[in-house]
Amino acid sequence: MVNKKITSIDDLSAKDIQSIADLALKFKKSTKSSIQKKSKNIFNLFLEPSTRTTVSFELAAKKLGHNSININFEKSSLSKGETFNDTMDTLISMKPDALIIRDKNNFSPRNIVKKHNIPVINAGDGTNEHPTQAMLDYCLIKEIFRNRKIKIGICGDIKHSRVAHSNIKLLSKTGHEVHVIAPSYFLNKDEIKKINNKVVFHKNLNSIKKLDILMMLRVQKERIPKGSKNMMTSFKRDFCLRSKHLLNMPYLMHPGPVNRNIEISDEVLDNYPKSLILRQVEMGVYLRMACLKYILK
Ligand code: NCD
Repeated sequence: MVNKKITSIDDLSAKDIQSIADLALKFKKSTKSSIQKKSKNIFNLFLEPSTRTTVSFELAAKKLGHNSININFEKSSLSKGETFNDTMDTLISMKPDALIIRDKNNFSPRNIVKKHNIPVINAGDGTNEHPTQAMLDYCLIKEIFRNRKIKIGICGDIKHSRVAHSNIKLLSKTGHEVHVIAPSYFLNKDEIKKINNKVVFHKNLNSIKKLDILMMLRVQKERIPKGSKNMMTSFKRDFCLRSKHLLNMPYLMHPGPVNRNIEISDEVLDNYPKSLILRQVEMGVYLRMACLKYILK
């Protein structure tokens, strides 16, 4: 039997995305227990920092009655110098039923699937993708707008953002209109056009009117080449979101963590009534329950 995997949005058809989102929304509404008949062992290997994603995967597994085993870089023998491949062989020999992995290297979830016969979910690989973040964002869009096609703007460090890449893929697959707002130093237009050739590009926040949702993304300090600190300063000056940009009152998203007063000003983060940021976190748990159910079938 071929194992299910979510290493990229490319692994999912539009139909898979709909049924995972429907299941997540069903879990959210349900008052009944979601405990599954057979408990499974799920390994969470997080080799980059995480709050929301790691806790929501653990909570999702527990709500389904599964065992969630968490390993991070500091706790693993990687910190003693063991190679990534040797660590993987070690973990796989304990026969987990599924592996959730976050890694700083692009494509490592896909490479694990090639080598090992195990269901894998990508919880963020380098600058490549973060498919479950895009799917939870999509669930929230579906919860609010139902089946309406919307206009969504994605603004920030698009070049280094795995969230941007997965969202741009997913939103095109599901037929939504995607606008990208970024300075040239945070954008590789050709790369984005390859993902979705219908994306509309904007150079600043003032040029976008009538968006249903504005998604701000974190400046990925840790992925910006050293010596380019002036990008942060320029971005803060030209793109930091203030109330004056929000006169059309779009919903506001951000996957977190937020760099306060770099992407979003305190005045907006603390007071904007149409912020969805904490609803995204909440939805993450139900979406990850649905993803676990999908790969463990
Ligand atoms: C994102 C990530 O790790 O890619 N965070 C998250 O999972 N909620 C976004 C980010 O770090 O900027």
